Amino acid sequence: MAHSSAPAVPRLPGHPHFAYRDGQLMAEGVPVAELARTHGTPLFVYSQSAMLDALAAYQRGLAGRDALICYAMKANSSLAVLQTFVQAGCGLDIVSGGELERALRAGVVPGKVIFSGVGKTRAEMRRALEVGIGCFNVESLPELDVLNEVALSLGLCAPVSLRVNPDVDAKTHPYISTGLKGNKFGIAHSDALEAYRYAAQLPGLRVVGIDCHIGSQITEMSPYLDAMDRVLDLVAAVEASGLHLEHIDFGGGLGIDYQGDTPPAADVLWQALLAKLDARGYGQRKLLLEPGRSLVGNAGLCVTETVYLKPGEQKNFLVVDAAMNDLPRPAMYEAYHAIVPVQPRAGDTTVWDVVGPVCESGDWLGRDRALAVQPGDLLAVCSTGAYCMSMSSNYNSRGRAAEVLVRGSQVQLIRARETVDDQLRLEASLNLG
Ligand code: LLP
Repeated sequence: MAHSSAPAVPRLPGHPHFAYRDGQLMAEGVPVAELARTHGTPLFVYSQSAMLDALAAYQRGLAGRDALICYAMKANSSLAVLQTFVQAGCGLDIVSGGELERALRAGVVPGKVIFSGVGKTRAEMRRALEVGIGCFNVESLPELDVLNEVALSLGLCAPVSLRVNPDVDAKTHPYISTGLKGNKFGIAHSDALEAYRYAAQLPGLRVVGIDCHIGSQITEMSPYLDAMDRVLDLVAAVEASGLHLEHIDFGGGLGIDYQGDTPPAADVLWQALLAKLDARGYGQRKLLLEPGRSLVGNAGLCVTETVYLKPGEQKNFLVVDAAMNDLPRPAMYEAYHAIVPVQPRAGDTTVWDVVGPVCESGDWLGRDRALAVQPGDLLAVCSTGAYCMSMSSNYNSRGRAAEVLVRGSQVQLIRARETVDDQLRLEASLNLG
């Protein structure tokens, strides 16, 4: 199983602000090994410049247009990450009451919040109406009724978009494809006109827009262009029936480079979409976007320490101190994340399955990875800025990892490592009888 190779500098997928210098991995101006020494492992390390660069690509693509980028905070909802985008002028796309409160604490302008999701409760609607969010993206007729009732009970009028399901194939993993007929999301394209007519006559609602989101980790342009055509067909039909739509919300979904993936750059994608909007006469319409992964995914690494090397007959296992509770994407979607040494060693590499300590065979972070590594070595799991910390859990009573944000040579601990006391805070000792 041993392969001889030079101490090659590993490839860091799509990470402009993480690079090797003098034989060690840097996060902007800071050695990653130093961060691990100070803060321990597993440790999420984010580059704020990488986040702002990713945002700038969208801003370039939309320059001169009436557009609001609402960061889909489910991708990474840590307060300092939200503040990075809010302070850069973004709105936020939320999907729960919890996300709403986080968004408010991050200082978002409530009018720049849009509320997505198939299962909004009355309590969530009430709170969102009271603080004055910008728009509810409604996904069903029963939800229209409930929102109407809640708004009337408060003497308010709810701004509403209908999320339509354009029935296009986003060509991505089935669990993260959302724009097909068989998905639970959105109102079917064929029912949408009727739903708009219905919404328009409800006194507690003000129809303001149309929304669609076709999936996540989309790496091709064509599903977006097809979806835009389908949405614009509906805009035309809805407006022919006498309603006016102030904005078009085109969702998120743009993919990132995990393993040599080549999604279009955000500005290139938006140039193509804007050309279509212009050609069909909707170029001046206000645009809303809900990007998540593409703003943060490649702006984060998870640093983990090698605990044991466990060579075997069929497989060699490299046991690290990060696990599926920190990095659930491989276990959930068989997702690939590059894994690279923080301080590459010269010498032979061995092919390893990189696994965590959790008691599940599904607890793997990477399979068949050629690495030259010794116990105690630090590894970086790449492209972990999106859907890792926000999907983490306490499974096996493991505390959540710490998070640091780097800007240039500045470092801030933005979330302390979770302690056992933190985990037990809400629990009570048994005291029945
Ligand atoms: N808007 C809506 C309505 C969404 O459902 C989503 C993601 C987004 C925007 C943001 O999509 P993005 O730009 O991040 O692709 N946990 C999965 C991804 C789930 C995506 C859910 N919806 C993963 O780790 O791949």
